[in-house]
Amino acid sequence: MSSAAPPAERKKVTTNTFRLKAARGEILTMLTAYDYAVASAVDRAGIDSILVGDSLGMVVLGYDNTLPVTMEDMLHHCKPVARGAKYALLIGDMPFMSYQASVEDAVRNAGRFLKEGGMDAVKLEGGRERTDAIRAIVGSGIPVQGHLGLTPQSVHQLGGFGPQAKTSDAAIRLLEDAQLLEEAGCFSLVLESIPARLGELVSKRLEIPTIGIGAGPGCDGQVLVTYDILGLFDRFTPRFVKKYADFHGEMARAISAYREEVESGMFPAQEHTVEMPDEDWGRLEEWLNGREH
Ligand code: KIV
Repeated sequence: MSSAAPPAERKKVTTNTFRLKAARGEILTMLTAYDYAVASAVDRAGIDSILVGDSLGMVVLGYDNTLPVTMEDMLHHCKPVARGAKYALLIGDMPFMSYQASVEDAVRNAGRFLKEGGMDAVKLEGGRERTDAIRAIVGSGIPVQGHLGLTPQSVHQLGGFGPQAKTSDAAIRLLEDAQLLEEAGCFSLVLESIPARLGELVSKRLEIPTIGIGAGPGCDGQVLVTYDILGLFDRFTPRFVKKYADFHGEMARAISAYREEVESGMFPAQEHTVEMPDEDWGRLEEWLNGREH
């Protein structure tokens, strides 16, 4: 496991640096965060971009999918991330039904991510059916990242969380959608759970950087859910995830050790205990004795 330090000279990553880095052939790194502690750690590690993903609905809030996540949930988690991260490009994930019903909703809610959540950009799911909303959000000065392939907010339409675009027809549709999202003004595109050669093909055909999650090594960058790579989310692990730690196991071990030490009287020990000068203790006892007689 590498412990390489981030580059010494660091500047805030913007959508522009994002684009330039990809143009230089440097691979972009992106991870999710939902709170101050994880955002600070991700930022300190030199990751280019932090996504406050609506995946928080599953890994933090315990829902079966991302559909119940609200704007208030998202803003609640964006704020501490913005306080914890100084350099990374911060992207807020627009939750289900915050941009689908109307273009006005989309612009208003995208604006809230920047005004209230402290984000630099927003991400939303979908292809050709979203281009009006994307144009309007970008027209308001808000950078938009697209998201194609496995789009979890459409889980019921897709029939599950399986890989997408495995047929030539579906691949053609995805290629067309990617082109339309670029034309609508997206600064970047997430490609989730699609065949690796399609990920590479889309990445080659687009000007904007692609960020893959289960889309192979041919994308311009990679993103994963931080709770997955840390092994914090134990319900299931998608095939495309690599676990770099087992925090769930470590958490269970630490919590059991705490319980055992409390039950056996080992904790708290002397070093965890605050003492009172004997003189004051004596006066307290005198006062108590006086009251009891
Ligand atoms: O919600 C999320 O975390 C995401 C990433 C998986 C791309 O959309």
